[in-house]
Amino acid sequence: MKNSRRLDRLGRGIFARNDLRKETYRCLSLRNSSASLLDLSLGSTDLLPPPLVIEAITNGFLSSGSSAYCLQAGTRPFREAASAWVQRRFGVNVDPDQEVLLLVGSQEGTAHLPLAILNSGETGLILDPSYPSHRGGLVLADARIEKLMLRPEKNWEPDIKSLSKSKWDQLRLIIFGYPHNPTAQVGGQNLLDEMMQCALKHQVVVAHDNPYVDLALEGEAPCLLKCKGWRELGIEFFSFSKAWSMGGFRMGFAIGAAPVLEALRGVKSVVDFNQSLALQAGGIAALEKASDWPLTILEIYRERRDRVVESLINLGWRMPTPSMAMYIWLPLPTWAKVKGWTDEDFAAALLNQTGVALTPGSGFGRGGKNWLRLALVRPVDDLEAAVARIVPWWHEHS
Ligand SMILES: Cc1ncc(COP(=O)(O)O)c(C=O)c1O
Repeated sequence: MKNSRRLDRLGRGIFARNDLRKETYRCLSLRNSSASLLDLSLGSTDLLPPPLVIEAITNGFLSSGSSAYCLQAGTRPFREAASAWVQRRFGVNVDPDQEVLLLVGSQEGTAHLPLAILNSGETGLILDPSYPSHRGGLVLADARIEKLMLRPEKNWEPDIKSLSKSKWDQLRLIIFGYPHNPTAQVGGQNLLDEMMQCALKHQVVVAHDNPYVDLALEGEAPCLLKCKGWRELGIEFFSFSKAWSMGGFRMGFAIGAAPVLEALRGVKSVVDFNQSLALQAGGIAALEKASDWPLTILEIYRERRDRVVESLINLGWRMPTPSMAMYIWLPLPTWAKVKGWTDEDFAAALLNQTGVALTPGSGFGRGGKNWLRLALVRPVDDLEAAVARIVPWWHEHS
């Protein structure tokens, strides 16, 4: 069988490639009784959701109707809860019927949006490096992809002014997000304001992917809903995966300009019937009764970050201080470059020889070349065990 050209262009995503390597390591380590896998490669946390969320979901599954298809009209209680949360959290009033849309995670929303906005061959802009669904959605929509490169010397923030007028004239959609994965920088509100204003001038849709809005360790996370003009061409994606540790439940939502949401709803009406009422009950409980939960997990991530950063700096591994929770973004050490290793080689050698899995930065785009991402998704003891494995390995090779 021959795949579609778009699937070939999509290629094998970094998380699928990582998965294969980790599975191979798991099998080999069982056979050789070597160290078990310490997986710090994926932003999938060990932390549990709030108990009251689990209770709401459990009760929901026992209620009649939760196993039925849930059409758009059935999501109204969820949309009302989301709109009330937005009002409390950002002081912005949104219409639950026109400006809120339930999603199967923010990944699903960002990946489907280009199908709703772009004709094939039209241009979308992403940051490089960026989260894989941003590029992936554009590829699935047969779009032309323009990239705004991020650089360490600019603190991994895009230089919006570097986009020429002719580039702006080609663009129809921008997908980006701060706090930023994988560079672990929070970013600033001024950046979003500038992007939104330029986009309005050139009539480009702005999609801001914001699953980490509650997970800034330093400063305040920016938010598109605070920018003037989002009601005309903006859409912002929120998620339960990170701040409430509900990643496997696959729930998120978008708030945005009514016509943009209407277009995305049109694509989704072909693809899914929304998450079950039981999961929506969990989302409602998180927004209404556990809106402070992210503050507690933030302190857990802060301790993890501080401990790991300190240990790695003691080892001689210098890095920018991550200002958001969950990730550390590490430059490929000089000794590895001298050996001719790429970030992929480094991650493969580290995994095969110590069992510690990191994600090579080039998996997030060319701009992530020579960087690695470590996810703080295990308890402090496990993170310290990972560092304890890295230290002798580092000394052996450097
Ligand atoms: C920037 C970004 N967007 C979206 C996602 C996926 O979020 P969700 O679980 O809501 O689909 C992630 C997960 O790591 C992410 O980092």
